[in-house]
Amino acid sequence: AAAEKGGFDTFMEKEINEQPKAVEDTLLGRTDAEGRLALDELRIDPEELKDVQKIIVLACGTAAYAGTVAKYAIEHWCRIPVEVELAHEFRYRDPIIDETTLVVSISQSGETMDTLMAVRYAKEQGARTLSICNTNGATIPRESDAVLYLHAGPEIAVASTKAFLAMIAAAYLLGLYLAQLRGQLFQGQITDILADLHKIPAKIQEILDNSEQIKQLARDMADTPSVLFLGRHVGYPVAMEGALKLKELAYIHAEGFAAGELKHGPIALIDEGQPVFVVVPSPRGRDSLHSKVVSNIQEVRARGAKTITVAESGDEAVKEFSEAVFHVPETQPLLMPLLTTVPLQIFACALASEKGYDVDQPRNLAKSVTVE
Ligand code: G6P
Repeated sequence: AAAEKGGFDTFMEKEINEQPKAVEDTLLGRTDAEGRLALDELRIDPEELKDVQKIIVLACGTAAYAGTVAKYAIEHWCRIPVEVELAHEFRYRDPIIDETTLVVSISQSGETMDTLMAVRYAKEQGARTLSICNTNGATIPRESDAVLYLHAGPEIAVASTKAFLAMIAAAYLLGLYLAQLRGQLFQGQITDILADLHKIPAKIQEILDNSEQIKQLARDMADTPSVLFLGRHVGYPVAMEGALKLKELAYIHAEGFAAGELKHGPIALIDEGQPVFVVVPSPRGRDSLHSKVVSNIQEVRARGAKTITVAESGDEAVKEFSEAVFHVPETQPLLMPLLTTVPLQIFACALASEKGYDVDQPRNLAKSVTVE
């Protein structure tokens, strides 16, 4: 069993540590000799893809947070409106779909019943369907018009880690593919973003190699009853995923919020000693988002919160307001989730292990939920 886990104590640790390879494999072999992107399977006329008016991303759990990252990237690069919806909500609200709608499902297993039923419903309504999936030949990709496989290798631990990063990487590829098809970005821009994507695996490795500090923090915080996570822009789904990992693995009350929403309610939760993780946007990003999030950090701190920040290396501004800072290497602001997620996964895994829980098989959860 130790060999199966590649020398790690748990599949979860193994899979967290496999993330550089998982992302690399998702990105591998996607371009032809001219540097143009392609999908694995395409049973839609590319002309139809050019005419897509709206994208709806359908997924459940962790995959739905990857979907929110996908929305930010695809809208920015392709200028196509993107909605993200939990698959189990979608069918029951009379959604507006037609032949010009592209439904993108995201599923590690490709067997999640809620997602499958939503995809079938969308097809019946005339939508084109595209599956982002980790499991070759699974039901959802088989029933979809187009497929982009993650190639991240089997994921054994029930809570998703490497598949999440691979889903995000795949969503970027899809965004770039659609931008290329529709002439929305110059080929040179696409090549530049791809080059930055290819630098991500080494940067994830850097985070993994320097993870002792976050593991120690997790051990020190093992008795904490509640942890909040704040993020903004693509940091928002990362905050949601950080909270989900902690619920799933450590059975702790955890919630993720959009940092801008703080003042509209969640700030009332802040009390003396409340731990708050903040996923800080790049100081090089657009529209002063960084300074707004730094103000949020000050606001919760003024009310007694213990703030722990995940920030870009070189971001010194957050230091004086943070109990602890975890730096991640620089990349394009849109690509940051591939890095900022990693310390949060390590934190949840180490905290749950400290509490003596089985991180591979958390109570009440199944790897693939094949009932509605
Ligand atoms: C289950 C798992 C989650 C996963 C979700 C979606 O609830 O416990 O970790 O995110 O299903 O799974 P999928 O295979 O569709 O990505």
